[in-house]
Amino acid sequence: MNEAIPQLTSYDEPSLEAAFATLSEEVRTTDATDPEAFRLHWLGRKQGRLKLISEAWLKSAPAEARKPLGIRFNQLKQQIEQALESPVSAPAKSEQQGIDITLPGTVRAPGIPHPLLKTMHEIVSVFHHLGYSTNLGPQVESDFYNFEALNFPPNHPARDTQDTLQIAAQHTRPSRDRLLMRTHTSPVQIRTMIAQAPPIRIVIPGKVHRNDAADATHSPIFHQVEGLCVDTNITFSDLKGTLDHAMKALFGSAVKTRFFPSFFPFTEPSADVQISCIFCGGKGCRKCKHSGWIELLGCGMVDPAVFASVTEERRKLNPSDDAYNPEKITGFAFGMGVERIAMIQHGISDIGHFYSGDVRFLEQFA
Ligand code: PHE
Repeated sequence: MNEAIPQLTSYDEPSLEAAFATLSEEVRTTDATDPEAFRLHWLGRKQGRLKLISEAWLKSAPAEARKPLGIRFNQLKQQIEQALESPVSAPAKSEQQGIDITLPGTVRAPGIPHPLLKTMHEIVSVFHHLGYSTNLGPQVESDFYNFEALNFPPNHPARDTQDTLQIAAQHTRPSRDRLLMRTHTSPVQIRTMIAQAPPIRIVIPGKVHRNDAADATHSPIFHQVEGLCVDTNITFSDLKGTLDHAMKALFGSAVKTRFFPSFFPFTEPSADVQISCIFCGGKGCRKCKHSGWIELLGCGMVDPAVFASVTEERRKLNPSDDAYNPEKITGFAFGMGVERIAMIQHGISDIGHFYSGDVRFLEQFA
């Protein structure tokens, strides 16, 4: 510790005050854990800091400054001696290192769930409260699960609406085993039913892929939440009641639902569900294209052809399996797009915001 001798250029009262405050602070923050080293450093007879500084400052001091200087050096000496007597008052380590622990720390903003995941969890949790559990399936799916078992026969035009990426070098395989990126979460309906007998109540959140050009409302990769309920005596009114409840839970109790006839190969009858426009309350506005309604999801009663494919697979393991006999059980299924729901919830007009990773967009959901 061979610090330079501080310079004192002016001997007026404020300068002395400041210079000795600095010295006193230096004494306070000097490591005193080794008292002998501390004593030598400050009070050493030849090279002690107190001696060197007082010599330097007194040498060039005008006569009238010698007394106030002397008084202050005495006070400083007392402070040093006191520090030696009560080493308990040794400064804390952080102070020795010049860290001011009273300064505010570096604030690291906590992470938040992505708005899409948040909406996905909200949807899933509505169904958890109804007693549903969650199932997941692979994004790389076989033709059988994504299409065939869901009653899309090979070369059927219904497949055109769900064009997707095919995994390379699959043409030597039987068509049912060819791999592709799944176009919807519905294949997990099949996987679940093959693995497990009714009653079934599951939700399936996940990522899906389609050959859709990206625009303000489309993305070739997006997210769905699927639902499947299979049990004895499940009717279309159960489907209506369940989805009406879910839409009210997601968008508020004032929301109304209506069901329009539609087509999906794996449900019969099929319906599109619309909710009353949450922006205008159903009066008609730009967002609902002046119809008062917003189309939100697809649904329907599980087609007996789907139960037949499931039964065929289950019988490979147990030839007498009859768990999915459509004479005994019925079911409903539904599928909704997470992006679309999140866009309506938050009034987002461009789906691209979800994938941009722009913090200015994301931090609005903190
Ligand atoms: N899988 C359908 C789609 O992606 C949605 C759907 C799911 C429809 C379940 C009916 C029943 O468009």
